[in-house]
Amino acid sequence: MYLLARDLDISMRMQGLEIGGIPNMGDGLICLSVPNFCGNERKYVDEAIDTEWVSTAGAFIGRFETEMARKLEISQACACQSGTAGLHLCLRHFGVGAGDLVLVPTLTFIASINAVLYQSAEPVFFDCDDHMCINADQVEAYLRHECRIEGEKTVEIASGKTVKAVIPVHVFGDFCDMAHLMRLAEEYHLVVIEDATESLGGTFTQKEYVGRYAGTVGHAGVLSFNGNKIITTGGGGMVVSSDAAVMEHIRYLSQQAKDDALYSVHEEYGYNYRMTNLQAALGLAQLEELDAFVEIKLRNYKRYCEKLEGCSYGGMLPFGGGEASNHWFYSFALQEPDAAKRDRLMRYLDERHIQVRPIWKLNHTQTPFRKYRAMDCGRAGSFYDRVINIPCSTNLTEEQQNRVCEALLAFEKG
Ligand SMILES: Cc1ncc(COP(=O)(O)O)c(C=O)c1O
Repeated sequence: MYLLARDLDISMRMQGLEIGGIPNMGDGLICLSVPNFCGNERKYVDEAIDTEWVSTAGAFIGRFETEMARKLEISQACACQSGTAGLHLCLRHFGVGAGDLVLVPTLTFIASINAVLYQSAEPVFFDCDDHMCINADQVEAYLRHECRIEGEKTVEIASGKTVKAVIPVHVFGDFCDMAHLMRLAEEYHLVVIEDATESLGGTFTQKEYVGRYAGTVGHAGVLSFNGNKIITTGGGGMVVSSDAAVMEHIRYLSQQAKDDALYSVHEEYGYNYRMTNLQAALGLAQLEELDAFVEIKLRNYKRYCEKLEGCSYGGMLPFGGGEASNHWFYSFALQEPDAAKRDRLMRYLDERHIQVRPIWKLNHTQTPFRKYRAMDCGRAGSFYDRVINIPCSTNLTEEQQNRVCEALLAFEKG
């Protein structure tokens, strides 16, 4: 069985086990999120091995890109090593550099922020809205009151630094207010890099974008195929955009910026970020299952909602995008913020071999990022103290879901 290292760490910490050991996975451990290989994965990977195309060239890479672009109804896709690499490539392509400011949510996986630092740029942290996504109203207030437009750019008045980009993250498969953010981006000349790493397969319900897939609204979108994502390549990512020039440069940067592969000529410095054919073989097979996985995620989410309806102290958080979300990760929230109770609940579930995790510690409070500007992030703080993610694998059985629900319902009684 495959278990994510970072999830193992959490689980082990909660059990007081040494990190680096392997927890007992017997006794019916219900994992938070594991892959589901039920299609052509083995066949395609075997084909890649049989043909000896296993590295950063080979037919599966192009096929995976083409099929993803077709699925998302977008013209271009560039497969790369990870979602983090995809974010980095976008920032680099759009000219985000030393001292530039990038507007980011505090409530997100740290990769979205790390990529900003790779470019020696600086994050400015924002709170979240009711769906744990970046608070567009707060972004607007910042731009209106603390920045000014100078020609074709926006400058933060206090620091004189240029505000270059915003990275909206569709947290757990829910949706940012892209209509609002895109309007602001246009007015303030910002680049929008849509972090759709968690929302593949979901579609927007906002009228401007209704039916458009997550990741296809910003100037570029980034997907992740990490082991816990709705589809996986083991590790991997993709940049998507309908702008051919953007994608050509991003593809070039992802392959060491080779101007002449034979004579090794490089006019720019690049990265070893290209996806391998082995990963793409897995990805293509997984993509064939995406629609089925989205359906299962929705069915299981509804099942949790029904079974936990009568819970006295908490319940399932809704997805703002309704049924159009991909329902990637499920959030169970206490009625009131109470970090001690959240931790007691996690321990209680852990003792019953149910793997859960708190949502991310807010990024503006993390050591490498404390020195950067942060708005009032009270709502994100309250979510942090209230919410845990509960098992959400697409191969979760009804019996396992019943066990999770019974444990959640019994917590206050026990
Ligand atoms: C919100 C968010 N952004 C970025 C990433 C980075 O993706 P990857 O793990 O593929 O580098 C992830 C995934 O782990 C994520 O959840």
